[in-house]
Amino acid sequence: MKRYIIKGGTPLQGEIAIGGAKNAALGILVAAVMADEPVTIENLPDVRDVQVLLEAMESIGAIVEYKDNHTVTINGSTIQDYHVDGETIRKIRGSYYLVGALLGKYKKAVVALPGGCQIGSRPIDQHLKGFEQLGATVTIHNGKIDARAERLVASHIYLDCPSVGATINLMMTASMAEGKTIIENPAKEPHIVDVANFLNSMGANIKGAGTDVIRVQGVEKLHKTEYSIIPDQIEAGTFMFAAAATKGDVMVKNVIPKHLEATSAKLIEMGCEVEEFDDAVRVVASKPLRSTQVMTLAYPGYPTDMQPQITTVLAISEGTSIVTESIFENRFRYVDELSRMGASIKVEGNTAIINGVEKYTGARVAAPDLRAGAALVIAGLAAEGITVVDDIYYVERGYEDFEKKLAGLGAHIEKVSSEKEIKKFTLRIS
Ligand code: UD1
Repeated sequence: MKRYIIKGGTPLQGEIAIGGAKNAALGILVAAVMADEPVTIENLPDVRDVQVLLEAMESIGAIVEYKDNHTVTINGSTIQDYHVDGETIRKIRGSYYLVGALLGKYKKAVVALPGGCQIGSRPIDQHLKGFEQLGATVTIHNGKIDARAERLVASHIYLDCPSVGATINLMMTASMAEGKTIIENPAKEPHIVDVANFLNSMGANIKGAGTDVIRVQGVEKLHKTEYSIIPDQIEAGTFMFAAAATKGDVMVKNVIPKHLEATSAKLIEMGCEVEEFDDAVRVVASKPLRSTQVMTLAYPGYPTDMQPQITTVLAISEGTSIVTESIFENRFRYVDELSRMGASIKVEGNTAIINGVEKYTGARVAAPDLRAGAALVIAGLAAEGITVVDDIYYVERGYEDFEKKLAGLGAHIEKVSSEKEIKKFTLRIS
């Protein structure tokens, strides 16, 4: 079992390059199988969820060729099977995109129900409603989504909530339905726009992605393309909060600053300096951090995937902060772990009331999910003494070389596999 061991207290300093967006990659990789020709995707993050998805695509006959760790060519024209299941695919969330893509292209899909982090009940009713409105018959049986259609026909779909997954799924299916589909109340996250741009580069006709109404004119075929994925705003934001927590000075490069506005605004309210460049942001935390209030919302609001990171830093900021989680009902499970490190946080329903303490002290903690795991690492980087973060399997689902990138900024962090290695690190570092 792998874990991180961290000796905290070193301000992070230097430059860090952000990789491609995981959540955009999951949609784009799957959408690639809808083309009749090979598709090349660049700036792919080398993370577990991406690897699992590519293996699942290979298992149904797609040809996947890595050119390097971050570039892959996918040929979906060789797909012969529309049935995707297996132990690993059941654990990831992005598997639901296989339904939208296979249904769109082959008019049938049988895919294991999605897994992903245990952060709430995570229904997929809006995906299924949309598939049905496009003419599919959808059933759930034996833990699988079974969607099939004689013909897919355009429709006017109103999403009850702006779901990222449902918006991407329905853009894919509607791209190969007959006629013009209208999706109202879609999600507007940057990766929605990225997936739409990618589909358009293969010959799809999607307008309005990133706005309140998306219009998709169906086409008969999609063709080859070469496409580079946008930078990961959540990876970038995580490093920005790590810089703040350690009183550091970090230039976060290869980002789109516009996508980081909600994160930057909160860091400024907390007393950091955030300087924007064309494709970089610099975070300097030279003054004491102070409290603020934040509520997670769909884009362009403050992202739920950045909630554990801000809570972790507010817990060592002066004053009382309030963090309200409005997207997922079970996203404060890491708070008990932070308490072991000295935080004073009370959770009531979907709200965390945080009384800032002077500092964290190192402890042994366990990651309950992907982003919370990253937040516990941030706490460890800021803490006095040594912190061990167990269950980092979650973190590796979404962060590439997390410990190496942090070490490049001066952090004392290693990935270890045994208690012996923990002892060695402790002896060496103290
Ligand atoms: C995606 C991201 C996840 C991020 C989340 C919100 C991936 C693989 N995961 O998750 O990292 O935290 O967006 O930005 O991209 N909902 C319904 N019915 C549905 C679908 C969603 O009620 O059919 C609700 C959810 O319970 C939640 C909200 O809508 O309250 C947003 O969910 P959604 O945007 O769909 O999140 P995911 O696609 O699961």
